[in-house]
Amino acid sequence: MPNSEILLTNFAGLLFALSIPVGDTLAMALWFSNLFSNDIGIDLGTANTLIYVKGQGIVINEPSIVALERHTRKPLAIGAQAKEMLGREKPDIEVVRPLRDGVIADFDVTEEMLRFFISKVQKNKLLVRPRVVICVPSGVTPVEMRAVSEAADRAGAREVFLIKEPMAAAIGVGLPIADAVGSMVVDIGGGTTEIAVIALSGIVTSRSIKTAGDELTEVIVQFLKRKHNLLVGSRSAEQIKCAIGTAIGLEEELQHMCRGLEMVQAIPRVINVHSKEIREALAGSVNAIVNAVRRTLEQTPPELAADILDNGIILTGGGALLRGLDRRLVNETGLPVMVADDPLTCVVRGTGKVLADIHGYRNVLE
Ligand SMILES: Nc1ncnc2c1ncn2[C@@H]1O[C@H](COP(=O)(O)OP(=O)(O)OP(=O)(O)O)[C@@H](O)[C@H]1O
Ligand SMILES: [Mg+2]
Repeated sequence: MPNSEILLTNFAGLLFALSIPVGDTLAMALWFSNLFSNDIGIDLGTANTLIYVKGQGIVINEPSIVALERHTRKPLAIGAQAKEMLGREKPDIEVVRPLRDGVIADFDVTEEMLRFFISKVQKNKLLVRPRVVICVPSGVTPVEMRAVSEAADRAGAREVFLIKEPMAAAIGVGLPIADAVGSMVVDIGGGTTEIAVIALSGIVTSRSIKTAGDELTEVIVQFLKRKHNLLVGSRSAEQIKCAIGTAIGLEEELQHMCRGLEMVQAIPRVINVHSKEIREALAGSVNAIVNAVRRTLEQTPPELAADILDNGIILTGGGALLRGLDRRLVNETGLPVMVADDPLTCVVRGTGKVLADIHGYRNVLE
């Protein structure tokens, strides 16, 4: 038994000896155990890392970005502070995104980043390392799964439970995942779009493609280079995507002022970009997402497909906020489509619900 658990048992025994009422004893024991350790849920995303602490809610919501000293590889900034430096680095600083396409691309940096976030939420805790529920994409290989588990383990977790991302999203949204009813979730993140049909606590049909938010941003970078001879960084391209990116035609088209470097004369320039040209640039990637949803529906057993006809498709993840994507999916599938409330936090809220009842949710853990 770990030292802290012995301590806890002794503490409860002491209260008993002092004849403190049982209800009060339990409350105090809970307070006392919280002093030692937090169980935490982590959405380790390609774009953003979120942490949910049992009893507190979401306490970390930061970009999955790390600024390193180039020679020593020592982290200088992590999260929002590192994102500020992206595209503005000095020669001795390298800003990296340690996850690519939903999986760990740089193991050491991912571990450092997790250690930093975990220590932030464990700041006032003593002795016991936390139990961690952490997400993996549905198409993950056993090797990639082990890498996530090991990174969490080495970053300070006492016990690691893995859950597939669309399953966590479905739980976060509050879908009836344990019922004999089919639910469809489409989680569009930075690195992957995860499509899953869930019933009886299992993923019945799923598809994971690498077309997601990052690709949409990169398409805009390439488009501005080709069409306007303008070099922009990924942060500016992301701003354009969020401001005027669309998946269907708008009654009133939008415009956005975009700053970049003119390629021919190499001078800074501001141009006005239009939503119509950005929509055309994004069309190929948006079609890939729509086709992946259609193909997943084709492979769904008929009874579950009938449930989805009634209950519709739920969109989660930051990509769900692309203007008009829900209506485009309605047009293409003929099914009801809803964007979840606060789509960027569905996955981590799901891990929070799992933490509250790890035993009850054991069937959905990997
Ligand atoms: N309003 C918006 N319109 C379009 N895209 C958006 C909007 N807001 C955020 N995004 C995109 O959502 C993505 C981030 O979403 P999210 O945090 O769900 O990804 P992630 O969980 O980190 O990635 P993954 O699940 O693939 O590992 C980014 O690509 C971001 O540009
Ligand atoms: Mg995600």
